[in-house]
Amino acid sequence: MPAVSLVRLTKRFGADAPALDDLTLDVAPGEFLVLLGPSGCGKTTVLRLIAGLEEASAGEIAIDGVRVNDLPPKDRDVAMVFQNYALYPHLSVRENIAFPLVMRRTPKAEARKRVEEVAAALELTPLLARRPAQLSGGERQRVALGRAIVRQPKVFLFDEPLSNLDAKLRVQMRAELVRLHRRLKATMVYVTHDQVEAMTMGQRIAILHRGVLQQVGTPAEIYARPANVFVASFVGAPGMNVIEAGARRADAKEPGTTAETVHGRAEVHSVGFRPEDARLVADGAGDFAGVVALVEPLGPEALVHVKLDVGETAVVRVREGRVPAVDERVGLAVPAAKLHAFGADGRRLGA
Ligand SMILES: Nc1ncnc2c1ncn2[C@@H]1O[C@H](COP(=O)(O)OP(=O)(O)O)[C@@H](O)[C@H]1O
Ligand SMILES: [Mg+2]
Repeated sequence: MPAVSLVRLTKRFGADAPALDDLTLDVAPGEFLVLLGPSGCGKTTVLRLIAGLEEASAGEIAIDGVRVNDLPPKDRDVAMVFQNYALYPHLSVRENIAFPLVMRRTPKAEARKRVEEVAAALELTPLLARRPAQLSGGERQRVALGRAIVRQPKVFLFDEPLSNLDAKLRVQMRAELVRLHRRLKATMVYVTHDQVEAMTMGQRIAILHRGVLQQVGTPAEIYARPANVFVASFVGAPGMNVIEAGARRADAKEPGTTAETVHGRAEVHSVGFRPEDARLVADGAGDFAGVVALVEPLGPEALVHVKLDVGETAVVRVREGRVPAVDERVGLAVPAAKLHAFGADGRRLGA
């Protein structure tokens, strides 16, 4: 039985296009599922619907097999951690973490024991007497997590909890959350617009765009076989290059592979390739040709942006060999097996 089951879930605010449109998605018990998508795609709406802070316009929400559409938030046994986690400034760390237990009238001894366990797990023990103002951003975030964990809810909902932290702390908290998940073995739904966070943390990723589910899969599956042009270009840093199919030189074929078979078909509208799957070659020698527009040296590699003769720009990741200069003419070679093919509706074609 799924820990969370969403069936044809829809949310409309007024007459606009639905914020969430017909979402069907299961979260397995103990799973860490990431909801990924750009700002405004409906991520927070999904969490608020699960938590009971919004009412569904249509569809079903079940937690541990029980329909919860009509249950108030307090009876759903979920904990939500927000980006702007509000700690009580006048309470100590201990009192902040204990707060949900006080609200539930948990016996004092039991509450004390749970707060101390949670504090130890989050390495907050030495800070229990402090006030939030005396903590760093990362420590405050851990207190907010502690407050969610102490209740031992059925499901954790995280709404971009790391986006207010600086880059270094974010990487550290990412690892900490993954460790915490392993330890608690709890069901977690984690929302982010940051595909690196999604790829590094998620056991599975569900990608939303304009309220519509685009693809669900493991990070590796989504990276290797994006379901459509949106997912292809959204996932990856930078994302996949997607180019009109006719732009590839007709004589640059390596027949015999699946991608090539698909590529040759009339319904192929565009082809895609990852920046690391293209090689720079002499002008005229590759599958595409163009002029270097920008070079981003990143230390171990350089990102070379090539304005193709057909008008689109493609990015090539160069890890060895010479990095060309801006304005230089180059060719791009892409092995046929690394080409992705998409139809006119943006959907992936073939394997
Ligand atoms: N209370 C509301 N009233 C009207 N529109 C809303 C409300 N909440 C969210 N929306 C709209 O629903 C869409 C999805 O919002 P949201 O779920 O917050 O997106 P995300 O969290 O992915 O950035 C947006 O277009 C947003 O403007
Ligand atoms: Mg949001």
